[in-house]
Amino acid sequence: MTKQEQLKQEILQKTKEYYELVHKPQQTKAFVEGESRVNYAGRVFDETEMQYLVDSSLDFWLTYGDYSKKFEKKLSEYLGVRWAFLVNSGSSANLLAFYALTSPLLNERQVKRGDEVITVAAGFPTTVAPIVQYGAIPVFVDMELTHFNMDVTQLEKALSPKTKAIMIAHTLGNPFNIKAIKEFCDKHNLWLIEDNCDALGSTYEGKPTGTWGDIGTSSFYPPHHMTMGEGGATYTDNPLLKKIMLSMRDWGRDCWCESGVDNTCGKRFSMSFGSLPKGYDHKYVYSHFGFNLKVSDMQAAVGVAQLEKFPSFVEKRKENYKKLYDGLKDVQELILVEKQPNSDPSWFGFMMTLKDGVKFTRNEIVEFLENNNIQTRNLFAGNMLSHPLFDSLNEDEEYRVVGELTNTDIIMNNSFWIGLYPGMGDDAINYMIKKIREFVKANV
Ligand SMILES: Cc1ncc(COP(=O)(O)O)c(C=O)c1O
Repeated sequence: MTKQEQLKQEILQKTKEYYELVHKPQQTKAFVEGESRVNYAGRVFDETEMQYLVDSSLDFWLTYGDYSKKFEKKLSEYLGVRWAFLVNSGSSANLLAFYALTSPLLNERQVKRGDEVITVAAGFPTTVAPIVQYGAIPVFVDMELTHFNMDVTQLEKALSPKTKAIMIAHTLGNPFNIKAIKEFCDKHNLWLIEDNCDALGSTYEGKPTGTWGDIGTSSFYPPHHMTMGEGGATYTDNPLLKKIMLSMRDWGRDCWCESGVDNTCGKRFSMSFGSLPKGYDHKYVYSHFGFNLKVSDMQAAVGVAQLEKFPSFVEKRKENYKKLYDGLKDVQELILVEKQPNSDPSWFGFMMTLKDGVKFTRNEIVEFLENNNIQTRNLFAGNMLSHPLFDSLNEDEEYRVVGELTNTDIIMNNSFWIGLYPGMGDDAINYMIKKIREFVKANV
């Protein structure tokens, strides 16, 4: 063994010891009712994440490198898609996915400014933001309250000659009605972007969510299904969208050389582009107005370790959903989220909605749970249109609303969710069930 290898082994061994001394006790701490905080989400990791991270930092490559390539390959294999691209967040993944549809390379299917994109207002703002940022028009459709996804019966009403795409998330891991939405997209020649940020590991008719549409997106921010700190990904089977996303992720360049590599095409100084002089260096030819959305290899290193354990995370999320559902299904005052038919969700959270006419408010039950050390969340923005960010936009010019967003408002006012992440044991799950039942019983 060389001195370098020996030193590395020592450092990695010390990293393991550090994990065992500092992090492991926290991760395996016994649950104490009322005292232990029941977080809605959290990182689940062991020494491997830390060792890969340290390994990558010792390499000191820093930018997109071997771990990034490995991660993209493993993620694409896991999903069964041809290509996956790492980016620095789920929001960046949504930005890249949407902007890919604006590429002139798509000819008549290019999304142009003023074109319409069907979406929902209940969810996370950066599913919608890229549509507005580009100058396209989001068209908001209401939700349904069984699976808490888009009400597909409104789709025909949302359609106009300007409709080019649908872009929506699988709410908290529960697949939307993919069959209906896919059929609608196919019938009207629309793109489908699946925001899969809260649903990695979910399947619909046995096929992973995020792979049904043209592009899927993921987030690897700590509360999500797996983490690398900040991080995200886009994935596709479409070779043209692959080419466009690679270009737009990496500054908008035409060249596809990996970082640190030159002349992959072998024609670096002999091609012609636009009105550039013949043989202009292909490395600096730009075919899109792009971004730089790449991650560091250290983030990817953490992601590689997380992917290795990912299937067990998904199983635990499913088990925890079942326990929560079984423990609360007879509580008449609450509508519990039901899984989408033909699907097997990798749940992000457990959503509940107060039934009409109950004698308590969402904020009262949420306050009670928080005071009892149970963390809760709303469905993100609730109804995005009620937020200040829409104050400066003109309805019917810069966005459209289809009918009334009645259920979206119900979600904003009466819904909340609790966690079920893989770090949660039975005692935490049982405690949440007990406290919810206790509150409801005292308030009927
Ligand atoms: C559905 C959905 N899309 C996108 C995002 C954005 O991901 P990120 O925080 O990595 O930017 C989130 C974040 O929670 C999300 O829930």
